Amino acid sequence: MEKLIVGNWKMQKLFSDIHPYFKVFKHKMALKNIQLALAVPSIFIKPCLEEMINTPFILGAQDVSEYEEGAYTGEVSAVQLASMPVTFSLVGHSERRQYFHETSAIVLKKAQRLQAQGLFAILCVGETLEQKKDFKKIIQEQLKGVFTLNPAHLVVAYEPVWAIGTGQTATLEDIKQAHLYIKSFLSEGSRNFSSVKVLYGGSVNESNASSILSLDEVGGLLIGGASLNPSGFEKLIEGLGPNL
Ligand code: PGA
Repeated sequence: MEKLIVGNWKMQKLFSDIHPYFKVFKHKMALKNIQLALAVPSIFIKPCLEEMINTPFILGAQDVSEYEEGAYTGEVSAVQLASMPVTFSLVGHSERRQYFHETSAIVLKKAQRLQAQGLFAILCVGETLEQKKDFKKIIQEQLKGVFTLNPAHLVVAYEPVWAIGTGQTATLEDIKQAHLYIKSFLSEGSRNFSSVKVLYGGSVNESNASSILSLDEVGGLLIGGASLNPSGFEKLIEGLGPNL
């Protein structure tokens, strides 16, 4: 099964960083069984698309509006994203849920908006440290309504909040258990959902990426900090080869 590796720049990088970033990846990397993707700030979508030519990346946004169109200052709609060669957007990242008070209902609406435009939704879920022993309940709540979505355009990303940007990666056993749970939850609802990829995210780096990705249940990785430096990110990706 092809694995999906998604870099998430978050609110980092400048316009002037874009050219040197993609230069590192030009005409390189004959990747087998890996699809590379980047979630960039919406303002950088156009310049990234221009610089991405001859690189192995597909491009996406980090968030999308829950509204269709109209007077929503500062928002970017799914229709607008789909009017550019964008493939996906993240929705429900824990930073959105935490700092912007996005509920699971809002996140679902965003995923529906994307899919209505033929885009992929990468729906992020994950528990905080305090919720760790109840992770199943939390994930279940965060996936509420997921069966209204089109599984063919859906990816789920499991990102325990306590592992994001902390350097404290979840253990392989934690990751395996959470992924098994998410996979079984998805396939209980409908058999079509058993093929939905489940990514892991949270302090993935060059030294742990390969062992996490070698878990059968893990369909790919969502990588924040370690995707920012292009040479480091390239090394991380090249290190994945032998396990695929
Ligand atoms: P991190 O972020 O790799 O820096 O922990 C992951 C994410 O938030 O998607």
